[in-house]
Amino acid sequence: MPLDGSFRTIIEPFRIKMVEPIRMTRRAERRVLLAEAGYNPFLLRAEDILIDLLTDSGTSAMSQEQWAGMMRGDESYACARSWYRFRDTVERIFGFEHVIPTHQGRAAEALLFGTLVRPGQRVLNNHHFDTTRANVESSGGLPIDLPCPESIDPATDHPFKGDIDLERLAQELKEHGSSGVALVMMTLTDNTGGGQPARLANVQAAAELSRSHGVPFYLDACRFAENAWFIKLREDGQGDRTIPAIVSDLFAAADGCTFSAKKDAFANMGGFVAMRDSSVARTERNRLILTEGFPTYGGMAGRDLEAVAVGLEEILDEDYLHYRIASTSYVHRSLDSAGVPLLRPAGGHAVYLDARRCLPHLEPRQLPGQALVAALYEEGGVRSCEIGTVMFGRRNPQTGEETPADRDLVRLAIPRRVYTQSHMDFVIEAVRRVYEQRDAIEPLEFESQEPVLRHFTARFRRPSSRAALEAEVS
Ligand code: F0G
Repeated sequence: MPLDGSFRTIIEPFRIKMVEPIRMTRRAERRVLLAEAGYNPFLLRAEDILIDLLTDSGTSAMSQEQWAGMMRGDESYACARSWYRFRDTVERIFGFEHVIPTHQGRAAEALLFGTLVRPGQRVLNNHHFDTTRANVESSGGLPIDLPCPESIDPATDHPFKGDIDLERLAQELKEHGSSGVALVMMTLTDNTGGGQPARLANVQAAAELSRSHGVPFYLDACRFAENAWFIKLREDGQGDRTIPAIVSDLFAAADGCTFSAKKDAFANMGGFVAMRDSSVARTERNRLILTEGFPTYGGMAGRDLEAVAVGLEEILDEDYLHYRIASTSYVHRSLDSAGVPLLRPAGGHAVYLDARRCLPHLEPRQLPGQALVAALYEEGGVRSCEIGTVMFGRRNPQTGEETPADRDLVRLAIPRRVYTQSHMDFVIEAVRRVYEQRDAIEPLEFESQEPVLRHFTARFRRPSSRAALEAEVS
């Protein structure tokens, strides 16, 4: 068992031997910077941020072994030493015969769906992540989410909110069969649903159902090790098993997987798609040569292949996983005991604030998620990400009317091995201070937006400052 259970303090299982300074900013300065960035922290310069919780993707700190691997990277164009190290590691951990390296997760998705999906076919998933959804759609497919009923209410606790709804999965497969369903996927952990894990038994049952209908079953494995740790902690009969054994069972159930090494491989870039079927592999390799690169490097440099290979070994370490999940739960628990409304329970990689319940004085059209994101930056220099009406709401191009999303959440995604427990204490204090002043948080409205993926580039304004400006002009 990692760490003597009698200690309460969470300890990082690493020491720091290289540091990146953080530029300290003051509240008054941040107010100006935020207004200049149109109240959209995506448009802030990273150097103006104290703690960056925008994403856990590509933001990990690499270990000494990963950096040593980078130096050993073999940059030969074809059949480099680093390729074999990468391929053998992926094969050993995930058990797939064919491994196709890509520059990141969405390139793996494009190859997979481009090969397996015919126009009009369905792709079933617990929850598609937004790039996954977009890649299914761009292949002409229809992405359908089948989250388990327990995951619908953000305020209730359930240990496996990432499970797929097996009843609805069975219905879909029965109704549309292998001609109508291109593939079934499960996302581990379920990022869109709040970083929630799925049970091993649920993955195995979904795989069995898919197989019985002749439909391929794939995993979106971005956060596979965090999911495996939750299985060990929470699933009946799994507590005494090792992480590699649980991982091996998860992937033994699948025909293949896509993976972004920017998450559970501690890499800043990289990914792959892997499978058992050699004819699928052949088609994907041909596409790979056209779009990414030669099949032994895909979209990666030799040094990146090394960093991912080492990172994949390190992520399975129980002392790391214990610390990782304990640290995320600590932030969740501290905010929960301060009364801040949260999506429950804590996710693996992130804590999600329930902005609609945090700011009940704001209507969804007044963008409570974005208003909370802005307040958190102003108060503490913390950058977070709205997952709500700005990201998933829709604007009618004719009338300009906004249809809000189902939920307005704010994600605090925690980069791996980057911040210490005292950084987390600072984040907790900043969120608490914002929550204490919640009644004074003003609404936001769109000033400008693009028709696709508008959250990245939209600009916002406070209606009060618009009114003041209008009064001045008239
Ligand atoms: N699948 C999931 C579940 C993801 O969370 C992501 C990325 C991808 C696929 C795509 O991988 O970025 O390497 O192309 N998620 C990041 C995030 C961007 O912030 O959650 P990618």
